[in-house]
Amino acid sequence: MNQDLKKEKSAKEAFSFIEKDIKKDSVIGIGTGTTTNFFIEELNKARLHVKGVVCSSDASEKLIDSSYEVLSLNEVHSIDFYIDGADEYNDRKELIKGGGGALTREKILAYSSDIFVCIVDESKYTDLLGKFPLPIEVIEIARSAISRELMKMGGKPIFRNGFISDNGNQIIDIHNLPIDIPYDLEAKLNNIPGVVENGIFANRKADVIICSTDSSIEIIQ
Ligand code: 5RP
Repeated sequence: MNQDLKKEKSAKEAFSFIEKDIKKDSVIGIGTGTTTNFFIEELNKARLHVKGVVCSSDASEKLIDSSYEVLSLNEVHSIDFYIDGADEYNDRKELIKGGGGALTREKILAYSSDIFVCIVDESKYTDLLGKFPLPIEVIEIARSAISRELMKMGGKPIFRNGFISDNGNQIIDIHNLPIDIPYDLEAKLNNIPGVVENGIFANRKADVIICSTDSSIEIIQ
């Protein structure tokens, strides 16, 4: 089975997983990326009666069917279900995200959600986070200073040339950075002045991982 089919399978399973608990006043949070796009397809087909959806990127927002009200986070009290993909996940349901550059808004929505359902295929599993280069959103004037700090920490920062986030910022991808204690490193990176957010999701990790393999689908709670 190719990777897209597995992503689609996880997205469909996530839809079934939340559908039974959806109410008229529910707010659904929508992540970003190819796996999430399959979830948006399911959502659009279903035309659910909900309060609305909150999106983590302009790209996802464009895909939402007009039968749904697209709300800003400021308009809602909380998000009932946040559905998003990941670049890596581990046994503790900690994640690396931001391959698509939407990590800051994704982390805000994940943090504001009651239940965070992460949809992946088996290729995203790792016992130790960090094989996937860790994305960091930075304020432009601080880029070089931050890169020097990252090198002192043992990483190899690569500027994501030509990419600007929905927040108007730049992204650095850190290669080879040891992420032994994700929770600690997440906080440490965010303490560097000029760092807007980093792609470690350990402080607010996933509640549920839905992972598809060639032959099965696993719901890890
Ligand atoms: C975007 C993300 C995505 O969730 C992550 O990159 C996974 O993407 P895909 O579903 O396309 O494999 O964090 O910022």
